[in-house]
Amino acid sequence: MLEKIVPAAAVAAEAFEDAPDEQPHPGEEHLITRAVDGRRREFMTTRRCARVALARLGVPAVPILTGPNREPLWPNGIVGSLTHCTGYRAAVVARATDLASIGIDAEPHAPLPPDVLRLVTSPAERDHLAELTTADPTVHWDRLLFSAKESIYKAWHPLTARWLGFDEAELTIDPTTQTFTARLLVTDPIPMNGRYLVERNLVVTAVSVPLDAEPLHR
Ligand SMILES: CC(C)(COP(=O)(O)OP(=O)(O)OC[C@H]1O[C@@H](n2cnc3c(N)ncnc32)[C@H](O)[C@@H]1OP(=O)(O)O)[C@@H](O)C(=O)NCCC(=O)NCCS
Repeated sequence: MLEKIVPAAAVAAEAFEDAPDEQPHPGEEHLITRAVDGRRREFMTTRRCARVALARLGVPAVPILTGPNREPLWPNGIVGSLTHCTGYRAAVVARATDLASIGIDAEPHAPLPPDVLRLVTSPAERDHLAELTTADPTVHWDRLLFSAKESIYKAWHPLTARWLGFDEAELTIDPTTQTFTARLLVTDPIPMNGRYLVERNLVVTAVSVPLDAEPLHR
């Protein structure tokens, strides 16, 4: 389903369950030595998805290590993103000559706990969510907005090596096109636009940054 919302230049691979008895890929064992079983399985399945997607770009099955801010470290010339939640693991990759960055996120399609909602949205965004809910109460718009912000962060961080707080992006969701746009409230914002999908009891979001995206000087 992820391929429906990523640009044509990107390759997606996803899994809805883990493989029994999967072993860590050589060179990645040390990343999950002390991890609990659930974490080991999500890690191995998601990175297997990444290698499936990379193979479609002709990239060999290399270990995908983790950077100092937990970001996946892609082979030279590749941009990509990983996500996992209960019942879903996915990876997307693209050539760095086609996209500047990409971020994906998946969440269970369920309401956000109210205390989390207040932490991750502005009052204006909460008004926007109320309007969206009035128009279509079948979608958990709060969870969708949260996922969109996590996708934005995953696309933002590899470009900038900087933190971006939930209060530093103001989101607008357009249900007619199943897209969202973010106004970044930082000194050198980058245009961040994405697409979403609600399917199989999951909310999945994807943000891609084109090569020609320039910082917007406010
Ligand atoms: C990094 C973050 C977005 C990941 O969220 P999560 O709930 O763990 O989401 P997922 O399970 O879908 O994704 C986890 C994957 O994200 C990737 N990831 C983690 N940190 C990352 C970073 N700094 N940059 C890019 N990708 C990152 C990793 O591949 C990770 O999987 P792995 O540990 O198995 O390699 C979240 O933990 C976080 O720190 N959020 C705060 C920042 C934010 O979202 N700001 C909003 C700005 S509008």
